[in-house]
Amino acid sequence: MGEEFSPQGAPGTLHLKWDLSPRGWLHFRLLRPRCRRLLLGTSGPSDPATMEGGAELLFYVNGRKVIEKNVDPETMLLPYLRKKLRLTGTKYGCGGGGCGACTVMISRYNPTTKKIRHYPANACLTPICSLYGAAVTTVEGIGSTRTRIHPVQERIAKCHGTQCGFCTPGMVMSMYVLLRNHPEPTLSQLNDALGGNLCRCTGYRPIIDACKTFCKTSGCCQSKENGVCCLDQGINGLPEFEEGNETSLKLFSEEEFLPLDPTQELIFPPELMTMAEKKTQKTRIFGSDRMTWISPVTLKELLEAKVKYPQAPVIMGNTSVGPDMKFKGIFHPVIISPDRIEELSIVNYTDNGLILGAAVSLAQVKDILANVTQKLPEEKTQMYHALLKHLGTLAGPQIRNMASLGGHIVSRHPDSDLNPLLAVGNCTLNLLSKEGKRQIPLNEQFLRKCPSADLKPEEILISVNIPYSRKWEFVSAFRQAQRQQNALAIVNSGMRVCFGKGDGIIRELSIAYGGVGPATILAKNSCQKLIGRPWNEEMLDAACRLILDEVSLPGSAPGGRVEFKRTLIVSFLFKFYLEVSQILKGMDPVHYRSLAGKYESALEDLHSRHYWSTLKYQNADLKQLSQDPVGHPIMHLSGIKHATGEAIYCDDMPVVDQELFLTFVTSSRAHAKIVSIDLSEALSLPGVVDILTEEHLPDINTIDFLTASEKILSTDEVSCVGQLLCAVIADSEVQAKRAAQRVKIVYQDLEPLILTIEDAIQNKSFFEPERKLEYGNVDEAFKMVDQILEGEIHMGGQEHFYMETQSMLVVPKGEDQEIDIYVSTQFPKYVQGITASVLKVSANKVMCHVKRVGGAFGGKVTKTSILAAITAFAAKKHGRPVRCILERGEDMLITGGRHPYLGKYKAGFMNDGRILALDMEHYCNGGAFLDESLFVIEIGLLKLENAYKFPNLRCRGRACRTNLPSNTALRGFGFPQAGLIIEACITEVAARCGLPPEKVRTINMYKEIDQTPYKQEINTKNLMECWKECMATSSYPLRKAAVEKFNSENYWKKKGLAVVPLKFPVGLCSVAAGQAAALVHVYLDGSVLVTHGGIEMGQGVHTKMIQVVSRELRMPLSNIHLRGTSTETVPNTNASGGSVVADLNGLAVKDACQTLLKRLEPIISKNPRGTWKDWAKAAFNESISLSATGYFRGYESNINWETGEGHPFEYFVYGAACSEVEIDCLTGAHKNIRTDIVMDVGYSINPALDVGQIEGAFIQGMGLYTIEELNYSPQGVLYTRGPNQYKIPAICDIPTELHISFLPPSENSNTLYSSKGLGESGIFLGCSVFFAIHDAISAARRERGLPGPLRLNSPLTPEKIRMACEDKFTKMIPRDEPGSYVPWSVPI
Ligand SMILES: Cc1cc2nc3c(=O)[nH]c(=O)nc-3n(C[C@H](O)[C@H](O)[C@H](O)COP(=O)(O)OP(=O)(O)OC[C@H]3O[C@@H](n4cnc5c(N)ncnc54)[C@H](O)[C@@H]3O)c2cc1C
Ligand code: FES
Ligand code: FES
Repeated sequence: MGEEFSPQGAPGTLHLKWDLSPRGWLHFRLLRPRCRRLLLGTSGPSDPATMEGGAELLFYVNGRKVIEKNVDPETMLLPYLRKKLRLTGTKYGCGGGGCGACTVMISRYNPTTKKIRHYPANACLTPICSLYGAAVTTVEGIGSTRTRIHPVQERIAKCHGTQCGFCTPGMVMSMYVLLRNHPEPTLSQLNDALGGNLCRCTGYRPIIDACKTFCKTSGCCQSKENGVCCLDQGINGLPEFEEGNETSLKLFSEEEFLPLDPTQELIFPPELMTMAEKKTQKTRIFGSDRMTWISPVTLKELLEAKVKYPQAPVIMGNTSVGPDMKFKGIFHPVIISPDRIEELSIVNYTDNGLILGAAVSLAQVKDILANVTQKLPEEKTQMYHALLKHLGTLAGPQIRNMASLGGHIVSRHPDSDLNPLLAVGNCTLNLLSKEGKRQIPLNEQFLRKCPSADLKPEEILISVNIPYSRKWEFVSAFRQAQRQQNALAIVNSGMRVCFGKGDGIIRELSIAYGGVGPATILAKNSCQKLIGRPWNEEMLDAACRLILDEVSLPGSAPGGRVEFKRTLIVSFLFKFYLEVSQILKGMDPVHYRSLAGKYESALEDLHSRHYWSTLKYQNADLKQLSQDPVGHPIMHLSGIKHATGEAIYCDDMPVVDQELFLTFVTSSRAHAKIVSIDLSEALSLPGVVDILTEEHLPDINTIDFLTASEKILSTDEVSCVGQLLCAVIADSEVQAKRAAQRVKIVYQDLEPLILTIEDAIQNKSFFEPERKLEYGNVDEAFKMVDQILEGEIHMGGQEHFYMETQSMLVVPKGEDQEIDIYVSTQFPKYVQGITASVLKVSANKVMCHVKRVGGAFGGKVTKTSILAAITAFAAKKHGRPVRCILERGEDMLITGGRHPYLGKYKAGFMNDGRILALDMEHYCNGGAFLDESLFVIEIGLLKLENAYKFPNLRCRGRACRTNLPSNTALRGFGFPQAGLIIEACITEVAARCGLPPEKVRTINMYKEIDQTPYKQEINTKNLMECWKECMATSSYPLRKAAVEKFNSENYWKKKGLAVVPLKFPVGLCSVAAGQAAALVHVYLDGSVLVTHGGIEMGQGVHTKMIQVVSRELRMPLSNIHLRGTSTETVPNTNASGGSVVADLNGLAVKDACQTLLKRLEPIISKNPRGTWKDWAKAAFNESISLSATGYFRGYESNINWETGEGHPFEYFVYGAACSEVEIDCLTGAHKNIRTDIVMDVGYSINPALDVGQIEGAFIQGMGLYTIEELNYSPQGVLYTRGPNQYKIPAICDIPTELHISFLPPSENSNTLYSSKGLGESGIFLGCSVFFAIHDAISAARRERGLPGPLRLNSPLTPEKIRMACEDKFTKMIPRDEPGSYVPWSVPI
């Protein structure tokens, strides 16, 4: 029996109440007993005969009993765990079920089956009232460093599956649940289990590697297609890697792993089993002054509750009602949530089909159907196969396990995956109310919520009848989403046809679409007209036209992508036609024609094998001392703590006495004058302490950054949606958020509204100055060339999507105006500086502390500092600690991201592909304020030529001022955009010359010693090495031939292959920006504490610094500790970013160590066999300081923009990547089949961390160039404000095969141990996927006789892929005249 834990006071005294905020946090408030009596008295549903009014909530968390006497039904499990139980391992990432950071395991005992069900769930959407009788296991419950770590925790850490670690507890829990249910899972189960968890850092490969160690067969693709698998030599042309002393293939050793022992897991609490067996339970009621939660335990009680509260939703999984309440502000004063009512969980197999209870979860439905389809003949299970197909991709496993079939059907989401199928499949719904039973069809009227076809308010859906299919009846399911898994469909469809016995004449036809209107739509009239027709191409043609007419979408339809949706409507129909034709042919080869061979590819699934990868890196120098860790794949210093949830992030810090919460009111208009702001109602709300506006900051309302100043709060005019207007400070987050909604602002829109780069160019809206780089004589060169082309490419922006949102806690020390700021930032000095100026105190009073950051990628530099300064102002004004944590949606709205770019190019080239003249223009969309936009443009110009030598080159760059939130630094900083522009230009030149792009790339590449456009000397020997090695390891020529063969045989699927080189200059264009400092103390016991100016944001800089100390002081890693970064220990630090954090700080740490060694040298030489304890003691006794600072002044670096010349960079990272993809020309889906990356990393200090940076960045780059798409309304409002709208790569997106190898180190340099910084460069390599897709689309277009040139903008989304593969279907759809409608979104 677990330890009892009852957080509430005694009944009859004041009750403590927790309020749930919009972000899901809890806040203490006092609730008088009178309120509760009212609630449960006559006005409440507390019939003592049947109901347990004011019930106690009892559940278990990690084996401990939790009893809540006065539970607030608005409370979700996530804030309850984090704030009340102080179990902060479970993280907040989005609050809407989309990221998996909050994954826990829920276990329930079923007294009927006597089985315990363990399933993963999103704590952010789990109301605690729904947990009665359940056992919750969090990451803390499975293992900790204080007790024993769990094998999952150990392996994810030791396999280097954690970087910032913020996603790790969620990953661990998803994996843990899988192992509880399947101790030796298959790779499919593994991929499935992690499908609902996002990671922004690692690129997933190491996480999969860790999990694979639990599978029966690990290390291979487990695919035995044609009797061979990846380990069989020669498959896919992969040459065998040499193994031996010099190269390594493994970054971890499986032998040292703890075995998985299922008997060691927490058992299900016996008390809960006994409780569940008890038959005498009654309806439970939990209430607060705002909401009542009723949990009936019998059908009778459920129906009674529904009669009493007909408007109350029946909550099952809360995955539909929960997000509506949270994001749409819908409030339900009463909620009914049935608990284990058997009739709702039935699974009946009848003669006609399956009857599934409404409460059966979607995951259970999946299992049931999988089972049935194995047992019954295929002709009976057509519908079940189709449902299974969608259930495999619908959301992630957490949502599928929480969501119920009934909840799915009744919520009738317009993009529901199952409803279109159930509707075409003649399914019926069994309803029950106190009036009796009723059955209604799940038809279009029901889906449109027509009152005559809908549930009555007091009715309950009991179960769903899903009939068997009949002979000559066929059902298919289709969907296309932005991402293949865990993404709502853009369009989905269910289609069913039934023929007369063997005659091929349509007797019944039913087609339904989701995503194309406010409800699921059935093309009833079209289907009716097609009945009686034979199944042939004429019928298909007629069907397409009829359906396009019936299922019509206006140009301005919400969700946009209108032409794509129209195309999908007919493309799916075509697929259905082919599918059925193929089956008919199989059933009756005599009567039915076979499909033309090349059309069969329309029916094939995209390439799907299991992931596998290889790594090749140089082993540490054999001459090195054995204890020297440099060059070894040392695990991330916090890896185990990430995995156990013990690593502390800013919002994991406990509440400080008297703490307040601050939230922002932001502009809802993009360009407007503020006519008035009325704060009175907001200020009158309980708990509200203050609202800060511009008035409170009379002479301190601006901050300076680089060359511009920006207002902190604006109350006169706004320049973008999301601009900070005022800050509401209240006792709790919920009160602050409620008050913020009551601030009344009257705007008057101003002209012009500039959103796009094109708008800015037209209005000449630029930040000054223009930057220009010129080399050679461009104008003359244009006269000499064979051909000239002009083109342009547009590239969309990117959201940082760090998993930890902007977070800060400011604590006034109460003495001498001292203030401590705990903040998730990359730039503590800047936070300190701005705060000091806003507070009008000297910097020595303001200390900024950063333990670790849950991902940053450039997004935690400027905006964080502004947010922190306001929070500090509030803290100082009120003399109380203030916390500010942005919700995901606020964060995405306010903080900007990567700059969208427009690149224009004019290239003069010879027919052999040599580009002799290049004239370019770069424009970036800077947003409303300068931020780092000019610097981004400058870096873009300095890196624009990527790996190529263009003898005559000119480029102008301008940062556009628009009415969008200001864009800022994001990993790669202008290079991913500039690099794409040049590669697009080269691809087009190749097409014009009729040459393969790789040939034009090679011919234009730098050749060894050369000069950059800014006249810096460069030795590019390793560029060519990487290129050649990449060509060789990827077996490029062989695979190119294979791709061509595949393309000639497959009309509707195409493969593409592309290889891109990389030259990434590293440096900060300024010496001062590269200075770094460190502080190293030796204590008398010989232990060492090291501090430096770098921020640990996942890249492992602290781990590398400890490696440096270990090498320099020749002591074991375990002797060295690092507590975090603080302006108190190392002042005046530069921002952490630009790939050089470890480089620069490492040199400073090394300097400090060498100073210490020099001082201690006489002592050590006197006692060379002594220990550090001996030496420290001796030094102390001889009054020798045991503390040293270290300093590095920065690399020599300069650039003169007047002359366009300089030496801005210290060194260059070289590399190359080759990617192969397959696309579905009918849907726009793509799959990355294989990527080979070769990188010149110099001497790697830590190959595990370095490979992590490369592959993590590569996957982030792949997202940038393919699926990550920001949508803005024509009024400048960002739509994409969370993982449900904005898709970063998930586990399904990573290349099936990934091979990474490091070039053997070849040159010594003056960098840290001749290593190279790798944080950013890998992003650009993601564009190899872009160009592979480009290659595949080109093949499709060539086959269809479409003339070039093919210009494709980034990101290459399914929409762009599909629309570029023009065919009879894209020609068939109606098109709207531009200007005749207002589009839903504008490409910015
Ligand atoms: C992150 C995320 C991703 C998603 N991805 C997808 C996706 O890819 N594809 C897709 O199709 N869907 C997706 N969904 C939607 C999901 O399928 C639905 O939210 C879910 O099925 C609803 O089930 P529930 O049990 O949680 O409903 P609840 O939220 O508990 O209830 C929903 C509604 O159903 C009513 N209701 C429930 N049961 C009954 C009953 N027995 N009788 C009468 N009324 C009842 C309730 O009154 C309420 O109005 C996603 C949702 C989330 C949060
Ligand atoms: S925080 Fe729960 S899924 Fe993102
Ligand atoms: S390690 Fe996964 S989000 Fe950072």
